[in-house]
Amino acid sequence: GRTFDTVVVANRLPVDREVDAQGQTHWRTSPGGLVTAMDSVMRHRGGAWVGWVGDTGEAPEPFEGDSGMHLYPVALGAAEVEEFYEGFSNATLWPIYHDVIVPPTFHRRWWATYEAVNRRFAEVTAGVAAEGATVWVHDYQLQLVPALLRDLRPDLRIGWFDHIPFPPVELFGQLPWREELLRGLLGADFLGFQRTTDAGNFIRACRQLLGTTSKGEVIRWEGADDDLLGAAPRTVRAAAVPISIDAADLEQLAKTPAVQQRAAEIRASLGDPETVLLGVDRLDYTKGIRHRLRAVAELLDDGEIAPPQVTLVQVATPSRERVAAYQELRHQIDGMVGRINGDYSGIGHAAVHYLHQSYPREEMAALFQAADVMLVTPLRDGMNLVAKEYVACRHDLGGALVLSEFTGAAHELRQAYLCNPHDIVGLKRRILLAMRDDPEQKRRRMQAMRRRVFSHDVEAWARRYLDALAMAPERPQRRSG
Ligand code: G6P
Repeated sequence: GRTFDTVVVANRLPVDREVDAQGQTHWRTSPGGLVTAMDSVMRHRGGAWVGWVGDTGEAPEPFEGDSGMHLYPVALGAAEVEEFYEGFSNATLWPIYHDVIVPPTFHRRWWATYEAVNRRFAEVTAGVAAEGATVWVHDYQLQLVPALLRDLRPDLRIGWFDHIPFPPVELFGQLPWREELLRGLLGADFLGFQRTTDAGNFIRACRQLLGTTSKGEVIRWEGADDDLLGAAPRTVRAAAVPISIDAADLEQLAKTPAVQQRAAEIRASLGDPETVLLGVDRLDYTKGIRHRLRAVAELLDDGEIAPPQVTLVQVATPSRERVAAYQELRHQIDGMVGRINGDYSGIGHAAVHYLHQSYPREEMAALFQAADVMLVTPLRDGMNLVAKEYVACRHDLGGALVLSEFTGAAHELRQAYLCNPHDIVGLKRRILLAMRDDPEQKRRRMQAMRRRVFSHDVEAWARRYLDALAMAPERPQRRSG
């Protein structure tokens, strides 16, 4: 088959397959920040993308995507979706990597399936990578791929990027498979993280759990014990390379007459309120949606805000709907919104407009333009690209961003109205300040944040990442046989 000099490996392909009731196949953009970012950086680079189509059907033959990349589908059976994707990835790793906001579940069977699926990804990748190719592996679903792939193809240059936080060793150490995961990652030449803290957490975990030595960002790795005969010591670099968005592209979209008109329409449909508050998240317990709703409910109770002058629009994109913690969360949010609206809405003016739906980019750009205060209040988030998208859309320097300190974005967007979402009193104060602050102050804050987002855009991120991978410390080649 055909081979490529650049191969992206991620759990999801950039497109998601949906088969409707009539048996017709539709391809949609996959959810989440990973695809948003990678789709734009790979557009002009080209290459292959190995990933899952998002259902349990048979994998189609490799095909060319809209962006000109060659997509190599990996099939997952129903049990694998349950055990690898919903189970180990999203009910074991996701909660551990996000501060155990909900308790993680440990199942040996899930782990076995995680290993098997990671092996399949490594095998497909080994088949499409050209001699000496650069392979860019993504995220927590595929942490064993770097080492499995190096075993199959020692000639490759292998990088991994962590889109989510990497937990402190006190939490990571709970995982019964902690050494295996670290060894899997150490198969890479370069490991990229969102924050310095995440890279540091990884390096500390290696020291404490594997006994590696390291100097700054560079870890010396002797290889697995049972591997001593074949393995030469290698070095692996772990560093922060925070991800971003295609700011110019999004701003351009936000400036189109169609989007501007739609923004005005949205405000008119909301009854032309003085203040539109907006939340946009996947429906996920990491996003702090309940804390945000509680703060808004208390502001309504206190009489500080009231519809129709002030209204909240909350977009909560459906996500991982078969995982128990997500079903429970949806139930709670449905209840909170119902209660708030029952108490405070009037005919024709809701206190909360709750949209459990996903929307195209044009509609999102219009919503961002229509929002006076953007509420991004996760309890923990690797980066949060929604915060950056809001800023990129506000070419008018209007609007205000309330941003949780527990996001990667807070380390860059220092001029946001930063908050601790656990502190409901503080969160309420930040929301009111963002609403009522001096307009000149707000413009200055927005301008400073825009400078950051436009100078550190997704293209700059990709260049930094790929340069670091290309320059990752050279090492003696592994002896074969
Ligand atoms: C986050 C993760 C991605 C994931 C996305 C959507 O952004 O970092 O790896 O793809 O959420 O979640 P899903 O489970 O639908 O792929």
